[in-house]
Amino acid sequence: MGRKISIVSGKGGVGKSTIACGIALALAKSNFSVCLVDLDIGLNNLDVYLGLENKVVYDLGDCINGKCRLKQALVNLSGVENLYLLPSVRFATENYAATDIEPIVSKLSSVFDFVLIDAPAGMNAGFEMAIKASNETIVVVTPHVSSLRDADKVISRLKGAGINNVNVVVNRIRGDMVARGEMLSHEQVARLLKTPLLGVVPESDNINIYSSFRFERIAKNKEVVIFSILAHNLRSDKKIIYDYQSRYKGVLGMIRRAMKRSL
Ligand SMILES: Nc1ncnc2c1ncn2[C@@H]1O[C@H](COP(=O)(O)OP(=O)(O)OP(=O)(O)O)[C@@H](O)[C@H]1O
Ligand SMILES: [Mg+2]
Repeated sequence: MGRKISIVSGKGGVGKSTIACGIALALAKSNFSVCLVDLDIGLNNLDVYLGLENKVVYDLGDCINGKCRLKQALVNLSGVENLYLLPSVRFATENYAATDIEPIVSKLSSVFDFVLIDAPAGMNAGFEMAIKASNETIVVVTPHVSSLRDADKVISRLKGAGINNVNVVVNRIRGDMVARGEMLSHEQVARLLKTPLLGVVPESDNINIYSSFRFERIAKNKEVVIFSILAHNLRSDKKIIYDYQSRYKGVLGMIRRAMKRSL
């Protein structure tokens, strides 16, 4: 059976979908079969992020309502033969329950090595469906007070539901600000949340995952490395943390920090 992992957050817009796509692409590049499930009902994002919008015919709702077979709803990412998307319900006209989602995710996990569920923000019905359908959870958080406070609530809820396999990804961290003591480091975030760290994703102007991976052959860029490390950490007890502060250490780093501040 494949692993069923939900990607959640307290606060919205902290990077769940970005990180779900990045990890999925990195796992697929390592020859694992991956299915991304977009559970952000009515607010489909993953098809757009992966450039698959025009290929979507059926969606999760159609599978639940028996309008199509699960296989018919899956959309393959061109050029990455082992990565599929189960698109979210595009027009939410009815409510769904965890019992609708669980059998679908379970079926997917019998075929794919990894099923990654991109949950909606907050602790609404979509969140509950995601955590019930999975047995591991990644909480995405940014190193800002509001995001941390909401992540803390989510982690308490997960613990309350008896879900212990929880890891944190710190997104949008900035090496220059951490070096200046203006932003919490990844260690501080993990300590505050009392939750193991899966890894970090620094703030990046080039976070467009799909194009990063498409052009991997000609440009082994930073984003590809960052998500490959996260994918590695998912499979290993020995976690590697991307050194987002290296550019800001030493004399050169001091100049870079000063330049960033003056921009
Ligand atoms: N590390 C990063 N550096 C720069 N921009 C980022 C980073 N991570 C995410 N973003 C940007 O932040 C925005 C929100 O990201 P994303 O859609 O992944 O968040 P989300 O948590 O899935 O949002 P929602 O709660 O609405 O589902 C996007 O424009 C994305 O490109
Ligand atoms: Mg999202």
